[in-house]
Amino acid sequence: MIFQGAHILSINQFEKENVKRLFDVADQMQPYALRRRVTRVLEGAILGNMFFEASTRTRVSFGSAFNLLGGEVRETAGFESSALVKGESLQDTARVLSGFSDVICMRHPAEGSVADFASASRVPVMNGGDGANEHPTQALLDLYTIRKEMAVNDRDIDGLRLAMVGDLRFGRTVHSLCKLLSLYENIEVVLVSPKELTLPYELVDDMRSAGVVVKVSEDLTQSITDVDIVYSTRIQEERFGSKQEADLYRGRFRLNQAIYTEFCQPNTVIMHPLPRDSRADANELSNDLDNNPNLAIFRQADNGVLVRMALFALVLDVAHCVDEYSHDVRWYNARPK
Ligand code: CP
Repeated sequence: MIFQGAHILSINQFEKENVKRLFDVADQMQPYALRRRVTRVLEGAILGNMFFEASTRTRVSFGSAFNLLGGEVRETAGFESSALVKGESLQDTARVLSGFSDVICMRHPAEGSVADFASASRVPVMNGGDGANEHPTQALLDLYTIRKEMAVNDRDIDGLRLAMVGDLRFGRTVHSLCKLLSLYENIEVVLVSPKELTLPYELVDDMRSAGVVVKVSEDLTQSITDVDIVYSTRIQEERFGSKQEADLYRGRFRLNQAIYTEFCQPNTVIMHPLPRDSRADANELSNDLDNNPNLAIFRQADNGVLVRMALFALVLDVAHCVDEYSHDVRWYNARPK
């Protein structure tokens, strides 16, 4: 893939060297994300941030990433405040909004919708999640986090052993991460879910064809004894026919500190794309893990800003001159150095 001007719609577009380039640029964004320096490299540019499904992290971190590069953000959130409720097509919306924006990020509940939108857009479009299909930027920030967490123990992505837990059928972050992991060597994945919510078989086949060792299980404690990462997910209630149906699976694979202490290796990293469902009947990652130093879920969210800054810088072709348009910040910065 050539980043300049590209739509970012699926992990299928990425080769290993694209991921390396992205992560190198993300590393360079650290002083800006930490508010040590300010860059105005995207001064004058406008991001159209269009979220037709609920979001906290993806929407705000795309917006923050663009602001941190000096650009401005215009948002549409929800169908009810857009002309889609009047019957306007996604393609007409794209024809109009790409006249107002330099890049567009979009989340939509229908699979393939962001690609449909992008086909009529005059500017690059980034997929912030299209139904149960994919969430490519989440997978990229997840892998960036994995790389950082593994580096603490002098480990690489190659050789990773990972348990994916929860709703693997509808969990789009899992779908994208499985594709991304398939680019690396000697990966072992154990898929832990109720049998009704297993990973789509095409994704399992693709992983196995790429050389990933894939095991399938319904037993959480047996599956997390010998892995580097436990990647927990929420039951994707919004994809079920009814709340009652989702309730059948909620809380089936809870990880808490007692289970972690008994079954996990001491260095096992706990990840989750968030939001975690903290309601009593779900609680897939218990709050009693919050002081566990291996809980990486908030580091994941922070890394999302770095990775999205890097994507904007590469797609808009300014990665080489971010520092040129920068200066130190002038305000008091409470963040630890
Ligand atoms: N991880 C993620 O997509 O979070 P949001 O739904 O809050 O964007």
